[in-house]
Amino acid sequence: MHHSLVLVFLWVVSKSFAAPAAISLEATKSYTLSGDLRGPTTLRGYDESYPFPTQNTHPDKIEYAPGQKLDEPEGGFLDFNDIDNPQPLRGNRGGTIASNRNIALEKQHPDSFAPPITDKGSVAQLEWPLGLSHVKLGHDKAGFSRQQNIGNLPISKEMAGVNMRLEAGSYRELHWHTAGEWALMLNGSARIAAINSDGQTFIDDVSKGDVWFFPSGVPHSIQGLENGTEFLLIFDDGAFSEDSTFGVAETFSRNPKEVLAKNFQLPLAEFDDIPQEEQFIFPGKIPPKDIKEQNVTGSAGILPNDESYSYHWSQQKPVQCPGGTVKILDATTFPIAENVAAAFLTIKPGSIREIHWHASSDEWNFFLSGQARIGVYASQGNSRTFDYQAGDVGYIPKSWTHYIENIGTEDVVVLEVLKAGKFSDFSLGQWLALTPAQVVKDTLHLSDNAIKGLSKTKPLIVPGPVPPATVQ
Ligand SMILES: *[C@@H]1O[C@H](CO)[C@@H](O)[C@H](O)[C@H]1NC(C)=O
Ligand SMILES: *[C@@H]1O[C@H](CO)[C@@H](O)[C@H](O)[C@H]1NC(C)=O
Ligand SMILES: *[C@@H]1O[C@H](CO)[C@@H](O)[C@H](O)[C@H]1NC(C)=O
Repeated sequence: MHHSLVLVFLWVVSKSFAAPAAISLEATKSYTLSGDLRGPTTLRGYDESYPFPTQNTHPDKIEYAPGQKLDEPEGGFLDFNDIDNPQPLRGNRGGTIASNRNIALEKQHPDSFAPPITDKGSVAQLEWPLGLSHVKLGHDKAGFSRQQNIGNLPISKEMAGVNMRLEAGSYRELHWHTAGEWALMLNGSARIAAINSDGQTFIDDVSKGDVWFFPSGVPHSIQGLENGTEFLLIFDDGAFSEDSTFGVAETFSRNPKEVLAKNFQLPLAEFDDIPQEEQFIFPGKIPPKDIKEQNVTGSAGILPNDESYSYHWSQQKPVQCPGGTVKILDATTFPIAENVAAAFLTIKPGSIREIHWHASSDEWNFFLSGQARIGVYASQGNSRTFDYQAGDVGYIPKSWTHYIENIGTEDVVVLEVLKAGKFSDFSLGQWLALTPAQVVKDTLHLSDNAIKGLSKTKPLIVPGPVPPATVQ
């Protein structure tokens, strides 16, 4: 920048950081518009007398991401991180941007910005970053929550998600809801308690990596332990909203005190201090360390182990695959969650969760770390590629093929959730390996060698080199 320009720039910056001049309310009150809001009709159409401003729309030079100039194979990941002024180009397709833009967002979504040539047709939005969700603030810095449902991602009809934070001792108010609630602990630890309709009681402490499930209608409490907690909730209903739960405070405030007094056989005055509105998230006293001090039981006793509302998933050893690790939790070992199945995957840089699809359910997924892209094929010739990073929700309808490719330099950690009693998928590779070779050869024109190399077992996560695009 020219020196005098720098000075002017600094002067403008210092001015804008100086205390703003007080705005005179009087001036706004007496303000009148001093011109026409619309222009004259004579501006319509060609008129040689009007000035004709001209500009050059071509950037001085185009900075290409590694692999961006290639016409073939056309589908690699494009890393725009070190490019100041990325352009929507792939090989000889596309053009340069000559107008207003949000570069940060474009760099985060290179597969939308300069899509692989294999993308085709119109595919619904399959990504929702929780960073775009409207945060619901708890009382007195006790925590917050933010949600994803059909309101912000319309295709997610089967499942919805909530990310919730509770500080040490803070509560999610006693409540219940019409959807079933499956939860993955993301940080810290929490104490959860509930009863079933027979009056059998349940209490447990869960920490990072553990899971709970509360079936629809089951009333429960959640409290952050001494270091606070954060967790992810998945509801088996895409229309679920954080605002449509049944809360205990409203249950009291929406019934006449006379009825409460009769119901609980207590004097009216006992209800003078009950909260009038939803409490949602609010501070509380840190619970005693020893869970036994809060273990309440009635004549029905405790919830039997095979109906347990918690599963200490953090203690399950994952299976090692060539390209990462996998562990599965479904009704086989956690029967109370009879319609939620989940896989927890670690995908190493360059590796790929193989091309597959789910026959029994849509997939709701959440990225805990790393950078990945998911490519889907949706039938009718349609396909699209999306980019994800930590904090993003993904959604893939039943039967659509998809892969998850780690396109970054750190491990991708992702949770896949199905609304099904058993976790299951179809592997494209395994299917073809188990199909008569002649059929595969006649259809796909693959060589005998390629067909022989297909794996008859599901590879699940296939290792691969770190994409050449990121190697530079
Ligand atoms: C848990 O929270 C602490 C404090 O914010 C943070 O340093 C840590 O990275 C978090 N852990 C995870 C797994 O996010
Ligand atoms: C809280 O953090 C401290 C320090 O890391 C640790 O000693 C303690 O066990 C933690 N408590 C819980 C309930 O996680
Ligand atoms: C609660 O008490 C019952 C016995 O009444 C016992 O079987 C159960 O293990 C206790 N639970 C905890 C978490 O201490």
